[in-house]
Amino acid sequence: KNIVILISGSGSNMAAIVQAAQKGRWRERFGAQVAAVISNKAEAGGLAWAREHHIPTASFDHKAYASREAFDAALMTEIDRHQPALVVLAGFMRILTPGFVQHYDGRLVNIHPSLLPAFPGLHTHQRAIDAGCRFGGCTVHRVTAELDHGEYLDQAVVPILPGDTAQTLAARVLTQEHLIYPRVVERLIS
Ligand code: GRF
Repeated sequence: KNIVILISGSGSNMAAIVQAAQKGRWRERFGAQVAAVISNKAEAGGLAWAREHHIPTASFDHKAYASREAFDAALMTEIDRHQPALVVLAGFMRILTPGFVQHYDGRLVNIHPSLLPAFPGLHTHQRAIDAGCRFGGCTVHRVTAELDHGEYLDQAVVPILPGDTAQTLAARVLTQEHLIYPRVVERLIS
């Protein structure tokens, strides 16, 4: 069972999943492995990390495609080379077309840095601080055509402390992301 992970940046969630797969012996136990890491940013730090860990990588620059559909089609062709049982969005900062989501229906998950349904979209930590929330967190959810609205698979909550900035809150949430995302992926592939 192949897992393909899509990233746009540092890929810390991707790395946490790769390391959980190694520590948890997913290959031996479930016949599962992270088969590829793919990005829409050639310079994404996570691509270098994946290469250092001998995981195939690819990147697609959306500016090289005439439309969102054409970009998604190129991405799907590359993803499908691995015939994935699961496609994991991990800090992937592109809105995917309904055609893409439909194609991976039932095997597409994402992590969002808020306690959905609160704060869908961007700048979630600053918005939670500005709203005076006492808690923040993250949500792993299935991906459907409506942004950040699929079935919730897990959540983690962290306190928002006096003096927190978006950066300090993001770091506290990221620690939890690295715990719940690998756990959800393992549950899904097992
Ligand atoms: C994380 O906050 C994640 O919740 C969001 O992208 C951010 C960066 O993730 N989806 P990563 O370090 O690239 O995994």
